[in-house]
Amino acid sequence: MKSVALLEVKEVVKRFGGVTAVQGISFSVQEGEIFALIGPNGSGKTTLFNLMTGVFPPTSGSIYFLDQRIDGWPTHKIISLGMGRTFQVVRPLKRMSVLDNVMVGAFLHTSDMREARTLSLQVLEETGLIDRANEEARSLPIALRKRLEIARALATRPKLLLLDEVAAGLNSKEVEKVMELMVEVNRRGTTIILVEHVMKVVLGVATRALAINFGRPIAEGSPREVVRHPEVITAYLGERHAAH
Ligand SMILES: Nc1ncnc2c1ncn2[C@@H]1O[C@H](COP(=O)(O)OP(=O)(O)O)[C@@H](O)[C@H]1O
Ligand SMILES: [Mg+2]
Repeated sequence: MKSVALLEVKEVVKRFGGVTAVQGISFSVQEGEIFALIGPNGSGKTTLFNLMTGVFPPTSGSIYFLDQRIDGWPTHKIISLGMGRTFQVVRPLKRMSVLDNVMVGAFLHTSDMREARTLSLQVLEETGLIDRANEEARSLPIALRKRLEIARALATRPKLLLLDEVAAGLNSKEVEKVMELMVEVNRRGTTIILVEHVMKVVLGVATRALAINFGRPIAEGSPREVVRHPEVITAYLGERHAAH
């Protein structure tokens, strides 16, 4: 039977030497969703993104994207199929202009300079960065640098966009703006998976959520249900205790 899910993660395990970062996680994301992945620091969220984007293969388990088994594929092949991502640690090419940074993403689609430029300008328009196109990326404040990361990922015209803590470190007005951008990108047809600690974002934009802790699933359902789930609250409280 043909799977209807855009992305399907099945019993995925990832070990790094003695550390098991992901201990058997399964979930699927349907086309059109904004799916939130939450959990305290070190619970395996970024590792899941790295597995989905081919940074490294899973120790066991399988990942399907657009009906193809992609685990073990190299990153460039997965991105070409239609997956885009941002990184938790923002890393634009600082000495390059905002436009050139986005063109790096666009060149995945085309080797034609004019076409890449047209697509990049369009993405800058969509992400509200067009007025900054010719500035050096390093001159941007953090909120706009994060936006540039999103723009760069969008320039590959992904079907599925993975956002890793894009609201972290932003003030509440900037958080509102990035939420608007997520909804707009999704409305234009891009499915989103977001890793996010800012619960306002999870509750405000996500259609469904999965909480994990120590690389295991602890709750899945509507964002409201998941955020209120006793095990999720305990996991976040545990993190706060560990920090103090
Ligand atoms: N490349 C790696 N090599 C070794 N250990 C790693 C690597 N990436 C992540 N880990 C470990 O896996 C666990 C989960 O990390 P991570 O996925 O970054 O968590 P999160 O994004 O939820 O904060 C942590 O214990 C982390 O130290
Ligand atoms: Mg992380």
